[in-house]
Amino acid sequence: MSDSGQIPYADTSFTDTPEALPGLLGEEPDRRAVGVFDSGVGGLTVLHECLVNLPHEDFIYLGDTGSFPYGPRSLSEVRRLAFQAAQFLIEAGVKLIVVACNSAGAAALPQLQASFETPIVGVVMPGARAAVQETRNRRVGVLATEATIRSNAYQNALHSLDAGVEVFPVACPRLAPLIQAGDVSSVDTESAVREYVAPLKAAGVDTVILGCTHFPLVTPMLRRLLGPTVSLVNSAEEIAREIEEILTRKHLANDKDREGDYRFFATGDPDDFREVGARFLQLPIREVNQI
Ligand code: DGL
Repeated sequence: MSDSGQIPYADTSFTDTPEALPGLLGEEPDRRAVGVFDSGVGGLTVLHECLVNLPHEDFIYLGDTGSFPYGPRSLSEVRRLAFQAAQFLIEAGVKLIVVACNSAGAAALPQLQASFETPIVGVVMPGARAAVQETRNRRVGVLATEATIRSNAYQNALHSLDAGVEVFPVACPRLAPLIQAGDVSSVDTESAVREYVAPLKAAGVDTVILGCTHFPLVTPMLRRLLGPTVSLVNSAEEIAREIEEILTRKHLANDKDREGDYRFFATGDPDDFREVGARFLQLPIREVNQI
């Protein structure tokens, strides 16, 4: 206690919360954009969460639609494509890279992080963390591309958090291409979803990770076919929280009073990207630059 009987340092105008630090230290806001990439439009589910939760930040989104799909490719091929995408975003001057593609993250995240100085985050660990917190019977299903399932990335991430969790991985080769084509409510898509959730229902999982950033777009079908007692983990929502925390802690955040901007690049047809993408982003896509 101090002489005045007050608890020292109890001045409430002073706080050591990370949000307060930039102001206290007189730091300049970091005006560089956050880079986000995916093999196609799936990563727009991640960008959507970022744009609504971090409206003051600028974003650059790269859809490697010319190489879509990543799912059936070998892990070394997906790694090569992930390096190309990351290199493009680094040359564009981003301050953080979000690998908004489970397949690319599963194949290449550690190698990307080891090769570049720019912070790089992926969607696998945030999704695994949320699933471990959510499950009550410790039986967790994973729906993902063949590449992601083959990499064992989710199995390893889940077991690193809880070695007792039983993991039921299901590769869903037909689903991302149907969604990428904009086919989110067709009979074909429903029959694919029905086929892929069948082993998870049989296994009695109570939590399912949407281990591909395309899959949140078929959430209504998944909910209906899995039933109301099964929790769905959408890693897009989880990663948005993590991005906000990283930007704040590393003092990379932009000025909170501004409205951010967002721009698009695609390696495939820009008109296709704009047309399908706007529906998924639920925000306007003004211009798509082809690279
Ligand atoms: N969106 C990608 C993912 O999260 C997959 C789509 C693809 O096969 O390229 O894995």
